[in-house]
Amino acid sequence: MPVTVHPLSPHIGAEIRGVDISQPLAAEDVAAIRQAWLDHCVLLFRDQSLDANQQRAFVRNFGELGGRKVRVEPQNYKAVEKQEGPDYNADAMLVSNIREGGKPIGVLPDGEMWFHHDMCYSPQPNRASFLYAIEVPSRGGDTMFSSMYEAYARLPQALRERIEGRTVLQAFDEYQDRRIDLRERPLSQVPHCFQPIVVRHPETARRAIYVNRLMSHRIEGLDEAESEALLEELFAYTEAPDIRYTHVWSPGDLLMWDNLCSTHARTDFPADERRLMRRYTIAGAPVTPAWDAQTAAE
Ligand SMILES: [Fe+2]
Repeated sequence: MPVTVHPLSPHIGAEIRGVDISQPLAAEDVAAIRQAWLDHCVLLFRDQSLDANQQRAFVRNFGELGGRKVRVEPQNYKAVEKQEGPDYNADAMLVSNIREGGKPIGVLPDGEMWFHHDMCYSPQPNRASFLYAIEVPSRGGDTMFSSMYEAYARLPQALRERIEGRTVLQAFDEYQDRRIDLRERPLSQVPHCFQPIVVRHPETARRAIYVNRLMSHRIEGLDEAESEALLEELFAYTEAPDIRYTHVWSPGDLLMWDNLCSTHARTDFPADERRLMRRYTIAGAPVTPAWDAQTAAE
């Protein structure tokens, strides 16, 4: 049965059918999936049955596994605690609100999470994330994806010119539904880095906005008020409802997404219901500013 591609919304997301990703894949199927991923930024595979080893093997079709450490200072690394349990390995990250002995078994446990690019606060952000649903609540906990290609394409020329060549401070720690307050926290204690405000995708050569409400703090070269105002202008484009795909999870769904050209957010869900997802990533490279790449594509 051939792999087929079914778009999920006008600007982002496609469902892939006709493949059991728990099994080794033929090279032509991997190539078809990869092309669909470049075309649609987010791919959905339904009704999959994956243990951690099978999920990891699928992810490895697309590159080297990504790390889970974030550099703060050269000699000071923050690492997610090694997880132990029957269903996961140290290189898998559990996203879960389940608690054992009062302690969450995973990370990012509860409630809403604002739009973000995974690990944009790292100098070498993971390129892609692969999230597999094991247990989901009866309602909520949806993941919304937004196309940063389309957000850029809609920017008026005057706004494009205001952000051209600029970088933005990306920082993240602790909170999921508000930015950390950098007036209270020394930057040296927070995973952070400056990134280009518009990136050039290394494979499609397209431009994509690289700011988000959760992690983007300050546009370099602007005072705080100007920076905040400009970020809000950009968020009106990056969070436009008609450039999104919202995924309502079922157990057995696997989503893979490209962190360079999409953002994602999580809706709230009942605190007393279990949500268990397993995540792997593939490693990325330093982000390329849109204006540095020598290519005719826009
Ligand atoms: Fe995320």
